[in-house]
Amino acid sequence: MIITTIKELRTYLDTHRQSGKTIGFVPTMGFLHEGHLSLIRRAKAENDIVVMSDFVNPTQFAPNEDFESYPRNIEQDEQLAVGAGADIVFYPSVQEMYPTDSSTFVEVMGDITKVLCGASRPSHFRGVTTVVAMLFNIVQPHRAYFGQKDAQQAAVLIKMVNDLHMNIELIVCPIVREEDGLAMSSRNIYLSADERAQAVVLNQALLKAKAAFENGETDVQKLIGIISGKINEAPLAHIDYVNIYEYPSLKTTEEIGAKALAAVAVKFGKTRLIDNIILKNKCN
Ligand code: PAF
Repeated sequence: MIITTIKELRTYLDTHRQSGKTIGFVPTMGFLHEGHLSLIRRAKAENDIVVMSDFVNPTQFAPNEDFESYPRNIEQDEQLAVGAGADIVFYPSVQEMYPTDSSTFVEVMGDITKVLCGASRPSHFRGVTTVVAMLFNIVQPHRAYFGQKDAQQAAVLIKMVNDLHMNIELIVCPIVREEDGLAMSSRNIYLSADERAQAVVLNQALLKAKAAFENGETDVQKLIGIISGKINEAPLAHIDYVNIYEYPSLKTTEEIGAKALAAVAVKFGKTRLIDNIILKNKCN
């Protein structure tokens, strides 16, 4: 069932909450793929009611980015979401979420939002935390589900939930990949056939770094060099960033300690893809 207004959604959820039901929440920007569906299935397995939001959030796009052209297909999304176990698809308009007099933002400060995608997209995380805080306020879920593919987003949202003492459990689920290893993304649809074939290099490069790490290489600059070298083998790939930080703090490190995030953003033509891998020290 699609619900488009905050009032109607609150009324529906209040009834269920009062009868002791747990609510799982999967925020999305729609154009669903298997990655989103895996989150819905997990939410359904762990909660009585599952709400999926389908909202392309304007505040997380910079003026030069793809907000207008971002792929949308609500009919297909509803069918897929319900098939995977969603009870409600919350599909608000921009006006419903951001009435014209809206002027409040939620922002996580510090390195965590300044590095990686925060460096290339300076206003992005402020838009993400603002809309997710709004959605959490509207849905008031017991648990919310996010994909590891947006590892920095997950780290930022965990920080927001902790800092604001929100009573919500955040669950970060594994990246879902195509058979050849490309991480699923709504933006993969933009790739030409050649770009799509070469985009597999992101995962290959990260796996190469993981293998080196497991063979004892802990020097961050050397591991970054391994990843960049492999990506540069693909002629259509243009690196936006390749970096490694402690995870989940996203603090700078020269040597990998307990847990680090190796993350990449690479442009193929106009399409910017991200991917990552966690490097975890087995001794910790
Ligand atoms: O990951 C996304 O699709 C979006 O950033 C989110 C969390 C739905 C907020 O708009």
